[in-house]
Amino acid sequence: MNGSIAAKSRGCVLRRLYCLAVLITGGVLLAADAPQLPKKSRPRERVAGNLQLPPPVLSGKMSVEEALSKRRSVRRFIRRELGLAEISQLLWAAQGINRTGEGERNLRTAPSAGQTYPLEAYVATQDGLFHYLPREHQLEWLDGSDLRGALAEAAAQQEFIREAPAVIILTAVPARTSARYGEQAPRYIFLEAGHAAQNIQLQSTALEMGSVCVAGFFEESVAEVLELPDDEIPVYLIPVGWPDALQPTPIYAEPLSSTADVQSPGPAGTSGVPATPK
Ligand SMILES: Cc1cc2nc3c(=O)[nH]c(=O)nc-3n(C[C@H](O)[C@H](O)[C@H](O)COP(=O)(O)O)c2cc1C
Repeated sequence: MNGSIAAKSRGCVLRRLYCLAVLITGGVLLAADAPQLPKKSRPRERVAGNLQLPPPVLSGKMSVEEALSKRRSVRRFIRRELGLAEISQLLWAAQGINRTGEGERNLRTAPSAGQTYPLEAYVATQDGLFHYLPREHQLEWLDGSDLRGALAEAAAQQEFIREAPAVIILTAVPARTSARYGEQAPRYIFLEAGHAAQNIQLQSTALEMGSVCVAGFFEESVAEVLELPDDEIPVYLIPVGWPDALQPTPIYAEPLSSTADVQSPGPAGTSGVPATPK
């Protein structure tokens, strides 16, 4: 995160070229089985050993119907940190293992095209940045700095990202899916991110918490903040916490016609997708 601007923009161009090349070559590499691509090692030093998360709770107090009826975007949070139990439950809902399939392959709470599992999940809190390992149900502690402010800046100053007690980040490694599905891969990957994000929203609602799905961000800036490997792209930022009943999230009331082409970010706490930075 301390690199020069020139080094950062070189990294951005390389990342784009890499992902483009992967998507193009993926079209002629239609493998019969799901690819098992090695993940590029992360450049940073781990802060400490992995954290074991408590097992997910498999029956809760709220029905799926009630969670659906209560789901909404929440952008105002009280100052209460998430415990390991909540983080465990939310990450498991997003990308956790819920069964084994053929060949003892681990399958997840969210569907994945051809079981290629392109998504990765991270969580940023006041304690730093953590990477979720679905198979072990553990967190890798990647960075000891609080990155929420930098993520808010990378998302056109959407301040609720800075103020949320936790921000779940969904990223994708496109090569995992494009090696099998070629040019269909981008569509599949974004659909998968939608499934995982909805799981997080419903799980947070069922825990009497709240969240908001944020896609209005500078992709390269978020990648820089997270120090993502060149083959990995950010897809969604999902701030999560307990809703502040005294400062409810404003309801989006702007007519669609005025936002058809470009939606402005608006003041912090308003809803809608900000103009996606080019
Ligand atoms: C793809 C996508 C991107 C979004 N990006 C943002 C965003 O950048 N900032 C934000 O505040 N809300 C964002 N939202 C949330 C929508 O504004 C919100 O879902 C919409 O206003 C409907 O409100 P509800 O979620 O409370 O039903 C996004 C939603 C989707 C599906």
